Amino acid sequence: MRKAISVAGLLAACVGASVGVSSVRPAPLKAVEVYERKCSSCHGKEGELLGRNFEKKYASDSELREVVESMPGAIGMRPQELDTMIAYVRAISRGEPFLVWTERKGDILEGEVSPGRATVRAQVGRTSLKVERPTPNRWRVELPKGIQPGAVEIIAQSGKVRTTLRLKDSPYSHTR
Ligand code: HEC
Repeated sequence: MRKAISVAGLLAACVGASVGVSSVRPAPLKAVEVYERKCSSCHGKEGELLGRNFEKKYASDSELREVVESMPGAIGMRPQELDTMIAYVRAISRGEPFLVWTERKGDILEGEVSPGRATVRAQVGRTSLKVERPTPNRWRVELPKGIQPGAVEIIAQSGKVRTTLRLKDSPYSHTR
């Protein structure tokens, strides 16, 4: 009987762990790429024509959401895709580097950074991982053996401003 209980306990722990792991997944939108394609014609490369602190004009998050939702380039975006784009727009408003994790291919994680001039570092605990930049707005990191994406932190720095993205919390920065 005792054994049965401990097996049940173990099973519950495994289910809990797998739920935790499966919630760590890439963002549903390549926000930086989509922005360049659908928004930059009016708002400039990397949002440079949007200006700074425009968030303050909006009393609440839902008002900012309404504006972004009403943009020509946002037609047909699913709610989670829109969330990712709104996060990017917040980073632009604050003048902070934006980070998003967009893909996993085996042990390779890929994502985006804006502005492209920002430097990108990655670490697991205190160990630094090598970061490749296939293009200025993209980063690529290889997971060390046995390490899950949730253990990875990505850090972008532009001038003195730094953004840290912990993949266990969210696949993109500026969630609020
Ligand atoms: C055809 C031109 C055009 C395109 C394309 C466009 N916008 Fe806009 N956008 C505007 C105009 C004009 C305004 C100002 C009018 C308004 O507030 O409704 C605006 C306002 C905004 C604002 C508010 C800025 C502020 O200062 O309050 C944000 C944020 C924004 N757009 C994001 C986006 C995003 C994200 C996309 C792509 C998905 C996009 N826009 C595509 C023309 C455009």
